Amino acid sequence: MNIIVTGGAGFIGSNFVFHMLEKHPDYRIICLDKLTYAGNLSTLKSVMDNPNFRFVKLDICDREGVYKLFEEEHPDMVVNFAAESHVDRSIKDPSVFLQTNIIGTSVLMDACREYGIKRYHQVSTDEVYGDLPLDRPDLFFTETTPIHTSSPYSSSKAGADLLVMAYHRTFGLPVTISRCSNNYGPYHFPEKLIPLMIVNCLHDKPLPVYGEGLNVRDWLYVEDHCRAIDLIIHNGTVGEVYNVGGHNEMKNIDIVKLICHELGKPESLITYVQDRKGHDMRYAIDPTKIHNELGWLPETKFADGIKKTISWYLENREWWEEIISGDYQTYYERMYGQS
Ligand code: NAD
Ligand code: DAU
Repeated sequence: MNIIVTGGAGFIGSNFVFHMLEKHPDYRIICLDKLTYAGNLSTLKSVMDNPNFRFVKLDICDREGVYKLFEEEHPDMVVNFAAESHVDRSIKDPSVFLQTNIIGTSVLMDACREYGIKRYHQVSTDEVYGDLPLDRPDLFFTETTPIHTSSPYSSSKAGADLLVMAYHRTFGLPVTISRCSNNYGPYHFPEKLIPLMIVNCLHDKPLPVYGEGLNVRDWLYVEDHCRAIDLIIHNGTVGEVYNVGGHNEMKNIDIVKLICHELGKPESLITYVQDRKGHDMRYAIDPTKIHNELGWLPETKFADGIKKTISWYLENREWWEEIISGDYQTYYERMYGQS
């Protein structure tokens, strides 16, 4: 089996590459990544010499380059993680989100149509469903919840999902879509909540909590997400959407306090800052379908996953120190001021 994994130098994509090389040692994994600010080749150094692995630096919007890669590799499957993924950046500048997340997805699917494919899998997000109110804990996102987006990021992901379903219906492309809740774990870029708070704690820097910190996210350890995608591409039904989430809802402020506690840092580092524009209040996934149809359940409890994650950041300082020493500084100052 030859699988093209796009965005494999990013957070979830790299964890998926490691998962697939370990679980399917007879598969060939071709990682296609543009290496934007969010993609790091150092993340993949442990697999670079694996004969079943190939890295190709390429933009998914580069039609000629993508078609050439399909001619060379004859992939059986494509799993598309490549995306601009940060909501705050999409609020500052939506255009690259539309380009990569929508146009890039269409280029990949056109290549699949041109050269044939057993499965095109789109890695999507629970953010396409919008948000849920805090005072209705009985409500969850199911696969039939209407698309109702809030940010340029989620709108671009929803646009891609609609295109994927259209390519299935119109051209018969064998597609699946997964919509997952917030992931955490190793190699998470330090602009996102959990790694940002860990890194700032370690530098005794202010911990910028948006609004009152009452927004709720449904956290899933990244390896559990990777297992879900592995199951969907092998056993999922073509044309179907699968929600992936762990019934692990937490308020942002509680996460930040937990990280302070684990690292022995004072809560006085917490600084309430201006809220995110259009900030989604609560995400909560109902994973009944993937559980009933594919037998998937999350395996890592948050209490264990967050400890493992913090240990990883403590043991892999060179990975994130290199990242935050470059362009990231400019982004950080633009986003949070000099804090
Ligand atoms: P990430 O930002 O860490 O990684 C994205 C990767 O895509 C990077 O390696 C980047 O270089 C690459 N990339 C960006 N534009 C590209 C282009 N034009 N061509 C080729 N490569 C390009 O993102 P992530 O958090 O790992 O998310 C991966 C996917 O999962 C995204 O599609 C995201 O929408 C989705 N998702 C993320 C989460 C989460 O909690 N992080 C949850 C649900 C879904
Ligand atoms: O739900 C899945 C989505 O989860 C993915 O589709 C996105 O790619 C991924 O980035 C993530 O989006 P969020 O916006 O939920 O993640 P983020 O880590 O940016 O923020 C989590 C919460 O923490 C959110 O309510 C905003 C808040 N926050 C975030 C940052 C970066 C803060 O309070 N302070 C911060 O500095």
